Amino acid sequence: MARRRQIYEGKAKVLFEGPEPGTVVQYFKDDATAFNNQKKGTITGKGVINNRISEYLMTRLGDIGIPTHFVRRLNMREQLVREVEIVPVEVVIRNIVAGSMAKRFGMEEGTELPRSIVEFCYKSDELNDPLITEEHITAFGWAAPQELDEIVAMSLRINDFLCGLFLGIGLKLVDFKLEFGRLWENEQVRIVLADEISPDSCRLWDVKTNEKLDKDRFRRDLGGVEEAYQEVARRLGILPESGPRDMPGPETMQ
Ligand code: TMP
Repeated sequence: MARRRQIYEGKAKVLFEGPEPGTVVQYFKDDATAFNNQKKGTITGKGVINNRISEYLMTRLGDIGIPTHFVRRLNMREQLVREVEIVPVEVVIRNIVAGSMAKRFGMEEGTELPRSIVEFCYKSDELNDPLITEEHITAFGWAAPQELDEIVAMSLRINDFLCGLFLGIGLKLVDFKLEFGRLWENEQVRIVLADEISPDSCRLWDVKTNEKLDKDRFRRDLGGVEEAYQEVARRLGILPESGPRDMPGPETMQ
């Protein structure tokens, strides 16, 4: 079988040329890194689960009118997406203090924020994704002011929707990271949600126990990493327990 041309290899995904112009295949690996590649490992089955979770969340977001790059899942580890020019900014939305924010301000993890906070990082492994402001983004031309307004508005809508979705399955969306891209369509450019949304890019805590069900289990050597990813998929109703055709809807918590 002819091998597709590889476009890019990242830490958790490989991008291949898609079957038609303007499309890309995202292949989800089991590789996991943390602290900008200083910690490396494998989370068995992560690629398969993240492919499913990201498909599910992007589809649900598409249903409420958020434009995304997602086209369709192709197989266990691959999904077809529209080719976009990635805006070199990571958008982090926080609802509860955790991770780098807890460290930066000497705050206790788990403190509820008075309102959701949007942060930006410049996407650069060499520079360790430094925290930036909107001023840097527009002054350095990483995004135009109007694009940035759209990115922030979309991020807050995504946050509202995902908070509700996860709460319905007994999970708190503590924080998460989004990436956006420019999609060219008949001479027009628009901003769409890109990359992935998965337990690699979100912090998800059980509402009752505060148990961490995300990549922090890997970052902090908490054990039960594979099980945590599986549990998120199971609660979303996308981890079939009795065969691949058995796909129940999300489990609703009372
Ligand atoms: P942080 O607390 O380490 O800044 O992470 C905030 C959120 O962003 C957390 O849900 C994990 C996610 N994240 C990524 O997806 N990629 C990254 O490179 C980093 C640093 C964080």
